Amino acid sequence: MIIAVDGPAASGKGTIARALAAHYGLPHLDTGLLYRAVGVTVARNGGDPDDPADAAAACVFPDSLLDDLALRSEEAGPLASRASRHPQVRAALFERQRAFARQAGGAVLDGRDIGTVIAPDADAKLFVTASVAVRAERRHRELVARGEPVSLAEIAAELEARDARDMARADAPLRQADDADLLDTSDLSIGASVQRAIALVDARL
Ligand code: C5P
Repeated sequence: MIIAVDGPAASGKGTIARALAAHYGLPHLDTGLLYRAVGVTVARNGGDPDDPADAAAACVFPDSLLDDLALRSEEAGPLASRASRHPQVRAALFERQRAFARQAGGAVLDGRDIGTVIAPDADAKLFVTASVAVRAERRHRELVARGEPVSLAEIAAELEARDARDMARADAPLRQADDADLLDTSDLSIGASVQRAIALVDARL
């Protein structure tokens, strides 16, 4: 059983994907971390994430980097988004994600192109979204709790810019797969979002 969870930044897709993995007893891959690893590696190499050669050179990184808290920082999101535009980067990360999706017993993957490119054959596909205002508020609360003071307006602007870039790119843009179920979490608690996600997946099995 393969479950694909896609959606814009801070939509709640990561939380939902983790909860689905626990519920169905499946391994989970947060594919955004792979792109964040590339973005952070480019920056650490002194390169430019908008440069295809610099970004491609950063696609080889140690697995231990995936545990680095720097990947979860606010700066890593835009770096990942800029690096992920390049087809060379997407190609370099493709096989790893595909192999994870195809492992015996199944898997849950979350990202931007799981239902469209990585696992178009997934058994269940969710497209998780929420209004920009709600997503910015959630991210703001998270950052304040972590002691990273950023203004709400700044976060909203960053989310909108990142979503626009992710939707506009030519290779594997962020979009809802034709056969994906839409889950808008704007007015739902985490618990209610997870319950709704499980109901949608169950209906597809
Ligand atoms: O999900 P997360 O915010 O960690 O993703 C960071 C960035 O990585 C996204 O804004 C997007 O540009 C890129 N990404 C992608 N394809 C995926 C997952 C993430 O292009 N499957």
